Amino acid sequence: MTSPLPANDPSALTARLQETDLRHHMHPFTDHQEMTLEGGPRVITRAEGACLFDSEGNRLIDGMGGLWCVNMGYGRSELLDAAAAQMRELPYYNTFFKTTTPVAAELAADLARVTPAGLDRVFFANSGSEANDTNIRLARSYWARLGRPERRAIISRKFAYHGSTIAAASLTGLESMHDIPGVPIPDIHHAPAPFWWAEGGARSPEEHGRHAAQGLEEMIRAVGPENIAAFIGEPVQGAGGVIVPPPGYWEEVQRICARHDILLIADEVITGFGRTGNWFGCETYGIRPDIMTVAKGLSSGYLPISASIFGDRLAEVLMERPGRFPHGYTYSGHPVAAAVARANLALMQRERIVERVRDEIGPYFLEKLRSLLDHPLVGELRGVGLMAAVELTRDKTGRAPVEPVGSLATPVRNLCFARGLVTRAVRDCLVFSPPLIISEGEIDEAVGILRGCLDAVAGSLGDRG
Ligand SMILES: Cc1ncc(COP(=O)(O)O)c(C=O)c1O
Repeated sequence: MTSPLPANDPSALTARLQETDLRHHMHPFTDHQEMTLEGGPRVITRAEGACLFDSEGNRLIDGMGGLWCVNMGYGRSELLDAAAAQMRELPYYNTFFKTTTPVAAELAADLARVTPAGLDRVFFANSGSEANDTNIRLARSYWARLGRPERRAIISRKFAYHGSTIAAASLTGLESMHDIPGVPIPDIHHAPAPFWWAEGGARSPEEHGRHAAQGLEEMIRAVGPENIAAFIGEPVQGAGGVIVPPPGYWEEVQRICARHDILLIADEVITGFGRTGNWFGCETYGIRPDIMTVAKGLSSGYLPISASIFGDRLAEVLMERPGRFPHGYTYSGHPVAAAVARANLALMQRERIVERVRDEIGPYFLEKLRSLLDHPLVGELRGVGLMAAVELTRDKTGRAPVEPVGSLATPVRNLCFARGLVTRAVRDCLVFSPPLIISEGEIDEAVGILRGCLDAVAGSLGDRG
């Protein structure tokens, strides 16, 4: 047992928590040795609206909405009340073996109403990774039941992020995610991404979009369409660096999938629930998926819940014929998470949050970030709705990669944190995905902090000659 926490001394409290954490807690995606040398983890103790507060009482604008998920902001009593009421009524029951709960059934119907027409069957899981694992099994089961078990390959893309389980990490197209032996699993392939800044060369963004789509088709021909179950893509690649597809790209990908009769899976884990200014990124880009993955914003991150959503094509094979889908999670359709998700969807509708992102705060956010393009370190601003990347560079016109990777974005990110703004460094871009309820004033403040940090880092580079 440790002695009582020193409640009135924030620094002592922080030190105690850091010590405890360092001793016992292994964190995701963290270099523990580095964290130890820095004195331990930062400690976030509470949050309100679009802001976090740390254990020293510092206020931070949460430019990342947690991990791209706290869409309706922190401290929403509607979500807390829904959780408490459901906990009292029925804190847990499962949805296995021909059983349901009122709230799981109602949430599935709510999702069928808000998703694009035709996507009206829902399989619940807890995380984006689990839902994408489910999608692999759904797609392969679909083909196997049609007598085509050889159709098992899944085509993903470079720079994709689809999660961290073994299958989802395999779908992920970031090399660092394949550093653990055994990943990627067999039958996963990565086609080019429409990432103009890094890979477009002399092509225009539109030409590069067509080039990336052609690369997908070449890969399909190389693997053999008769061996492929599905293609998976995020409407906008998020964790890979907010890679916004150029006009025409998704139309071409849709045509290619249709031409080869390949199921199209849209991973909407980040882009769903208003992030791009429509309910789903598929609507923003005219994608008509066979399966959609949702998570994060479904409950605004208040509780873990995710889903695979599909339509008649899969349902006719997997639900309307004898036989069962041998797959599920203890917490599939968890009643408390489902109650929070229902309350979250109702809140989104009541506050017309999607319209706010599309018509007001999204354009404001992108315009403010675009004002940074005059800065010597800012090469490109990519964004849609309330997600964006500020690409940093020392070569605004030639787009040469920053060497060493991260040497611009990491110090800017660290300084932003110290000055009250949470952003994330992906290679040398800073990514943003704030709560959809963020105010114009908070955006002004965030962009002001960012500009100050860019100036400071540019100044320090100048000092070093
Ligand atoms: C597009 C996408 N898919 C899947 C995931 C994985 O979700 P989770 O971390 O809930 O497993 C993420 C997480 O960031 C994501 O961005």
